[in-house]
Amino acid sequence: MTELLNNAYNTESFRESGHKLVNLLADYLDEALTSPENQKVLPWLIPEKQLDKWRKHLKSEISIEDTFKEIIENSIHIHNPKYIGHQVSAPLPLSALADLLGNFLNNGQAIYEMGPVSQAMERIVIEWISAKLNLSEKAEGILTSGGTIGNLTALLAARQAKSDFDIWNSGVLNHKLAFMVSEHSHYSVERAVKIMGLGEIGLIKVKVDEKFRIDVSNLENSFNEANENGTKIIGLIANACTTAAGTYDFLDEIGDFCNSHKIWFHVDAAHGAAASLSEKYKYLLKGIEKADSVVLDFHKMFMVPALTTAVIFKNPEHSYQTFAQKAEYLLNKEHSWFNGANRTMECTKIMLSLRVYMALHAYGDKLFTDFVETTYKRAEEFAELIKETKNFELLFEPQSNIVCFRYIPEGINSEEKLNAINAEIRKKLTEDGTFYIVQTKLNNKIYLRTTIMNPFTKISDLKKLLGLITIMS
Ligand SMILES: Cc1ncc(COP(=O)(O)O)c(C=O)c1O
Repeated sequence: MTELLNNAYNTESFRESGHKLVNLLADYLDEALTSPENQKVLPWLIPEKQLDKWRKHLKSEISIEDTFKEIIENSIHIHNPKYIGHQVSAPLPLSALADLLGNFLNNGQAIYEMGPVSQAMERIVIEWISAKLNLSEKAEGILTSGGTIGNLTALLAARQAKSDFDIWNSGVLNHKLAFMVSEHSHYSVERAVKIMGLGEIGLIKVKVDEKFRIDVSNLENSFNEANENGTKIIGLIANACTTAAGTYDFLDEIGDFCNSHKIWFHVDAAHGAAASLSEKYKYLLKGIEKADSVVLDFHKMFMVPALTTAVIFKNPEHSYQTFAQKAEYLLNKEHSWFNGANRTMECTKIMLSLRVYMALHAYGDKLFTDFVETTYKRAEEFAELIKETKNFELLFEPQSNIVCFRYIPEGINSEEKLNAINAEIRKKLTEDGTFYIVQTKLNNKIYLRTTIMNPFTKISDLKKLLGLITIMS
């Protein structure tokens, strides 16, 4: 045993550094919530300078505590109420602590004995959310690392279930299989289809309405057209909700369409599944119970750290068929819910379930209800504010906590100029760092896109954002 190894595992240093880190994070959270104006959301540095900084740091003698501080200072501050950018949650302190616990225990979960607690908790978390989504009592699923992998996992199951040959072993060559996808599906859906080897012909893009929801009246046409071209449609992917504009597809009607054609119905509810926790908003998910598979990201609307994704299957059999593989030393032929690797892309997996389970245990459903209702309502209020404020145009009334708008200065009508102005605003905002928002292009128009991910974001913060944009442009 070397002295260095001994020192690296020293229990007293661990205790000391751990206490210091928790103190730092508690102060950091306090500042973000009580005096957010003292903190730039994004301490902007160009990538080369950032790289240079950490190259120098690596060679320095800076202490562990000061390094923790520097990491915090130079990161984007998701807990600051003026962070209203991409759909990443401001994690609950308890979920972050659960993560520390899980990372330290490092129970890998590929097979039961490598993660007995987290495997049982995973089953409980999936049962809980399946019930909220009104899925069949028999539904089963798994947790995995992100919606991107989640969508791929679900579509692999769809392909296995709906192609009438043993595709896992024979491959996809010479088979024109396709999924119907919304033009507004998240890019991970197209990526999954391409990874599966279905190519461009594997994507039948269906039309959307003026709110970027699948145009249900056009589905039959798209289906027949593809069939006539010799393509076998095996499934359809609906959004709940769309990434760019936050609108929910008509799941009920789409579910009926899929059932009538006996194709797989997958709902990408990575962002919007949380509406199921609210009596007020759960109507948005009507019909989700018809889905063969559902993906949802707990790290988006459930206040837990990334990545924590659930993939749920209406028929548990399908979850086992996804990976029809043999590995005598590890994988189990029997259908055992407690052997994770049978059903996930990952072999070793971090203890994802702890993050959700701990929050559920400590606070109950109501915490998640409060979160979704607070953030969705704030988005409605923000939309009102945009409509009332001179020179701003709201894309449309939000259905979720995603709000898109643009700045239209007086006398400017050219779409090209408006695009340039709004792209410039977003660039200036990023470099300024007081707020963090993103941009998106819809119908060839650049919109500023905000997602209210923090329940502490107040309407006064959003007023300040519009004020800053007006001053900047
Ligand atoms: C609808 C939708 N699906 C999938 C994803 C991908 O999720 P992840 O970033 O967890 O891989 C996103 C991410 O924003 C999304 O909005």
